[in-house]
Amino acid sequence: MFIRAITHDHASAAAEVAATGMTDIRRRAGTLADAYRRCGPLGLAVAVAGHIPSRALQVEWFGVHQVTAAATHVAEPWPGARAADYDDADLLAGVGHVSAAEVRGRFARGDDVFIAFDDAGLPVAYIWYRSGSWREDDIEFRLEPDERWGYDLYVRPEARGLRVASGLVSVALVGLHERGVRRVVSVIDHLNEASRRSASRYGSFKLTSVLTVAVPWGGLIRERPMGGRARWSWYRRPAGVRRRPLNAPQGVR
Ligand SMILES: CC(C)(COP(=O)(O)OP(=O)(O)OC[C@H]1O[C@@H](n2cnc3c(N)ncnc32)[C@H](O)[C@@H]1OP(=O)(O)O)[C@@H](O)C(=O)NCCC(=O)NCCS
Repeated sequence: MFIRAITHDHASAAAEVAATGMTDIRRRAGTLADAYRRCGPLGLAVAVAGHIPSRALQVEWFGVHQVTAAATHVAEPWPGARAADYDDADLLAGVGHVSAAEVRGRFARGDDVFIAFDDAGLPVAYIWYRSGSWREDDIEFRLEPDERWGYDLYVRPEARGLRVASGLVSVALVGLHERGVRRVVSVIDHLNEASRRSASRYGSFKLTSVLTVAVPWGGLIRERPMGGRARWSWYRRPAGVRRRPLNAPQGVR
């Protein structure tokens, strides 16, 4: 009887583990198929590499994008979205992505931030901007004084798909323009479809496509300017490489 009870418990636990495992496998297979469908063999390879521990192999594939800070809105502004400051640290932490301590650290570095709220007045999204330089994994991007790096654009899961991001960025670009900023540069992962779609709404323009494949002591980097030829180079880690974001071709906002 006792043995039968244990066996039964083990069997149901094993069934539960198997079911969870199958769901997980199906979800991962779906993600990989999606990467292949949207971005071809390279997209699939990058998605597969994402499952390898990054201390062994780190593969990044993204576009470096620019958008011009503007006096007028480039997308439907999100109502009530505004610049936030140090006094908003707890509100910003309430967006749920980083702690209040991290938020204060970002302010201490002089970063700018803009925040959006839902109808009930709860914070649902933010976007941060840094001046000087930005390190994206192994690449340090150097900025001019009138340039900013846009980072950590984040919308709470329950508010996604409502165009909060483009509405918030539009408000931010006007705010930055008033502060003397000319252009904003940022990266968007090629596999991040939601981010790419949202960015196209606020006038984002891809300058360069970058692929890095790195092992613990060094990495290969492939950089392809839009409409140009790809260039490969090798770098050492942790030093990495330094770059200036390209200028957009004339006529591109
Ligand atoms: C990427 C992100 C900022 C987009 O914000 P958003 O306000 O949801 O953007 P949008 O409402 O314009 O949606 C963009 C697209 O994603 C789709 N989408 C993404 N998540 C969705 C969800 N949970 N429900 C419905 N649609 C969703 C939308 O259908 C939309 O497609 P469309 O252009 O055909 O309408 C948000 O998904 C997010 O915070 N993701 C996690 C962090 C991240 O990836 N940040 C960007 C780093 S570059």
